[in-house]
Amino acid sequence: MTPVVEMRGVTKVYRSGSGARTVEVHALRGVDLAIQPGEYVALMGPSGSGKSTLMHIIGLLDSPTEGEYRLGGEPVRGLSEAQLARIRNQRVGFVFQAFFLLPRLTALHNVALPLVYRGVPLAKRLERARAALEAVGLGDRLDHLPSELSGGQKQRVAIARALVQEPDLLLADEPTGNLDSQSSEEVLALFDALHRQGKTILMVTHEYEVGARAQRIVRLRDGRVVEGGV
Ligand SMILES: Nc1ncnc2c1ncn2[C@@H]1O[C@H](COP(=O)(O)OP(=O)(O)OP(=O)(O)O)[C@@H](O)[C@H]1O
Ligand SMILES: [Mg+2]
Repeated sequence: MTPVVEMRGVTKVYRSGSGARTVEVHALRGVDLAIQPGEYVALMGPSGSGKSTLMHIIGLLDSPTEGEYRLGGEPVRGLSEAQLARIRNQRVGFVFQAFFLLPRLTALHNVALPLVYRGVPLAKRLERARAALEAVGLGDRLDHLPSELSGGQKQRVAIARALVQEPDLLLADEPTGNLDSQSSEEVLALFDALHRQGKTILMVTHEYEVGARAQRIVRLRDGRVVEGGV
């Protein structure tokens, strides 16, 4: 089976400032990582260890300084911005700590939005968005605005929006970071269910109990995988 994620020797160096004041940060220092279809992986490690950087590279929001990365078997090196955007749109669903729902759109229209960029006709978009919201248990909140939803419900709308495109990989950066314990549980139960359905999930978290829900914990320290790699 082709791994969903396959990376070898990935480094990321950020350069800030200029001239004598240039500062280099080695955010990733040679990461080898493979994630198989259907795996549920938690990415853990101290603040600044490179978790978000690694997630951004995996999700094609950023590119490595060095090393090889294949998403679904396809090498991404040398692709144009437009090509990367197209692959990202088709293959990756993102969930962030801060939800990023559009406040003036209903749950249904927030979830339908990514399909606009894929040229899906309106009736079909709404049908798929409704099915995605039903799948996350929000079939009775289609016409609610984000301000009319609880934190856990907002995050479930964001998860439905990520799933509506049927991505190969669901990436979640601290998805429970803004939630109280009951809302966190709602979201984690949903990830458990998605995992049982065969979805491939990579979740960044600080919290041990959250990471323990995954099948495997990959731990980063100072830009290196120190546990659970490959
Ligand atoms: N755009 C950037 N420009 C310069 N340095 C950056 C940039 N983004 C991250 N860094 C640096 O890279 C290192 C890794 O950052 P990253 O955001 O990946 O950490 P993290 O593990 O996600 O931390 P946290 O748990 O706090 O979210 C940090 O030292 C950070 O300061
Ligand atoms: Mg981070």
